[in-house]
Amino acid sequence: MDKVTQYHRLTLELTSILQGENNSIARCSTLVCLLAQTFKPRFFWTGVYLVDPNNKKELVIGPYQGTLGCLRIQFGRGVCGIAATQRETVIVPNVHEFPDHIACDSKSNSEIVVPMINSRNDLVGVLDVDSELYDAFDQTDASALESLVAIATQY
Ligand code: SME
Repeated sequence: MDKVTQYHRLTLELTSILQGENNSIARCSTLVCLLAQTFKPRFFWTGVYLVDPNNKKELVIGPYQGTLGCLRIQFGRGVCGIAATQRETVIVPNVHEFPDHIACDSKSNSEIVVPMINSRNDLVGVLDVDSELYDAFDQTDASALESLVAIATQY
């Protein structure tokens, strides 16, 4: 099955499962689980970093699937912190060539980070996906992940 079809099915599944659920951790966990299971082994680490309610300039680890993730990332630092500051999706084909990349697991070779913006236009966190493959993510992934993140975040 091609990834466009996989993403389409995931969209329908996620929408159905999350119907009536307003707990943000339940929604994020479900998004992360479905993505990690659908796209393994291409998705090596899938998780969210959430804006710390006690320090709005820091991200703190949220639900994830994969090896141990770093606990905290400051805004502006690493791929996650840059995506959070810019509120734009960042695709990194080779993390070893990305200045300020934060290596939680040295097996990661490429990465995509998608900002999570709620219905009040507040940034609530970022979705971070890492791959052991180089150049694992393209614009198809970016668009589909942005749509899935919107379903999980804007309700
Ligand atoms: N590589 C990320 C840090 C998080 S881990 O990949 C799980 C970054 O540079 O922000």
